[in-house]
Amino acid sequence: MYVKHLTLASFRNHGSTDVALEAGINLFVGRNGQGKTNLVEAIGYLSTLTSHRVAGYQALIQAGEPAAIIRAMVCHEDRDILLELELNREGKNKARMNKADLPRVRDLIGVISSVTFAPEDIDIIRRDPTNRRAFIDGLVVQYRPRMAGVYSDYERVLKQRNSLLKSAKITKTTGSALSTLEAWDASLVQYGTEIVSARIEIARMLEPHLFAAYQSIATTNNEPRLLYKSSLLGDKLPNSFGDESEDDDLDYLEDSDKDTITELFRAKLEKVRAKELERGLTLVGPQRDDLVLMLGP
Ligand SMILES: Nc1ncnc2c1ncn2[C@@H]1O[C@H](COP(=O)(O)OP(=O)(O)OP(=O)(O)O)[C@@H](O)[C@H]1O
Ligand SMILES: [Mg+2]
Repeated sequence: MYVKHLTLASFRNHGSTDVALEAGINLFVGRNGQGKTNLVEAIGYLSTLTSHRVAGYQALIQAGEPAAIIRAMVCHEDRDILLELELNREGKNKARMNKADLPRVRDLIGVISSVTFAPEDIDIIRRDPTNRRAFIDGLVVQYRPRMAGVYSDYERVLKQRNSLLKSAKITKTTGSALSTLEAWDASLVQYGTEIVSARIEIARMLEPHLFAAYQSIATTNNEPRLLYKSSLLGDKLPNSFGDESEDDDLDYLEDSDKDTITELFRAKLEKVRAKELERGLTLVGPQRDDLVLMLGP
């Protein structure tokens, strides 16, 4: 797969830009601020619907313009696919494939496989778990595009569950009034299990590549590991009121089997229920997990 042709209209500083690309390495050479990274960002956005520089898409639309368009001709083996994404400052964004409207913009995800490596990516190692979760979730969605829907379902359920817990905390609701919580628990476990399982699967697929790449640059201490630290394991509780800290002393989960994860999730929710009501917050689940990169034993 490669992008043959890229056309941008009102995207960042590109009023109207047309670039032909070749299979293999393409280099963009130009003055600072000329728009090289913007080209890369446009392809990345069309591939994943995320930017490595900003959250959301408003900043991608050229200042003073109502909409931006990213269009790419993608060569898949011997088939060409024309992708088009229209980002609107107001109103819905639109996506087209071979000139036909796609039911949902997110149906674009995965047509272009891309990896953006930018200076900001050092944050994956250096900074808090949010960066590592975003990294692995990005890979999960590219590998299994259908997971984009699962992530948005999970987020919705988590939000509803958190607001229920918060109001239960304030009103000191107990007993039967909390039956709604149980309904949310089922969905939380269902979607959360899919996320945890997919992350472990990807981590496992990635590990040999990490291993090989690291060995090629390091002569000592060169056996890196990639592990999944999960809030679903053990008796420990994430240590704080929802804020995250490096010393969350969680265990590693290696089994991506969904039945096993579902069981762990259910059992852990049961265990933390009282604490969750006390704090008014969901305390376990993929939103509390972390990807750990380790060197040496
Ligand atoms: N929404 C926008 N509307 C108009 N211009 C924008 C917008 N967003 C960014 N720009 C402009 O894009 C330019 C930066 O482009 P980009 O980051 O791609 O440059 P670059 O060629 O990669 O530069 P460098 O060599 O410094 O990395 C800046 O001039 C900035 O003002
Ligand atoms: Mg740049």
